[in-house]
Amino acid sequence: MTLQIDVITLFPELLEHYADATILKRAADKGVWRLRCHDPRNETDDPHRTVDDTPFGGGAGMVLRAEPIVRTVRSVVDLPRPVIALTPSGRRFDQSVARELAATDGFTLLCGRYEGIDQRALDAVVDDEISIGDFVLAGGELAALCVIEAVVRLRPGALGNDESVVEESFSDGLLEYPQYTKPAEFEGRLVPDVLRSGDHGRVAHWRRAQALRRTMSRRPDLLDTDGLSEADRRLLLEFPEENGPQPNG
Ligand code: ADE
Repeated sequence: MTLQIDVITLFPELLEHYADATILKRAADKGVWRLRCHDPRNETDDPHRTVDDTPFGGGAGMVLRAEPIVRTVRSVVDLPRPVIALTPSGRRFDQSVARELAATDGFTLLCGRYEGIDQRALDAVVDDEISIGDFVLAGGELAALCVIEAVVRLRPGALGNDESVVEESFSDGLLEYPQYTKPAEFEGRLVPDVLRSGDHGRVAHWRRAQALRRTMSRRPDLLDTDGLSEADRRLLLEFPEENGPQPNG
């Protein structure tokens, strides 16, 4: 079944351009997902097609008007629900939200611009609000693209090889282990011997130890507060080094 993603944005060409390359394009060509953009500027009545205005109560910047957004939502009869606004004050997007959205038939993303969206538009037509992180972008378009790419690549058939979704970062709650490709030596830096040993069991153990070590040092917040399991503790003792042995220099 095709995942239908609609985006309400003042910059449809930004979304369409990015979606017209790489994995998103290939997945759309295979019928994995479909993008439709709606520009709220088309739902204005004044000659200047005004979508924003100054904030009541004063303050810097401009606020997106409620009417063009609400009219856009109501004018698309088959608009997929939920309607999700991209805003720094939304709930935090992560891999589990990506999985949640990938399990739906479709959804609509509403991109803000300027200082925000009139609260009455959010109250009238928006079901959920999502932030992609604790930083402020100039608009929701980049955030929408992050959400779209993270979700679409989880759909069956989106990637060449379905396994690459299973083993990657976050699917097991850990950061990704280091990867290597040919040559076996680059500027004196060697690929860890275990990866060239052909011993798949040992490779899997080494990778888990590296993923654990990375997660402990970079993102301890991701680890279980109960501490490591006995098996994981043994793995860390079995592979005490970060990466492989390296020559000096
Ligand atoms: N719009 C502006 N900043 C954003 C953020 N961090 N996440 C989602 N949408 C945004």
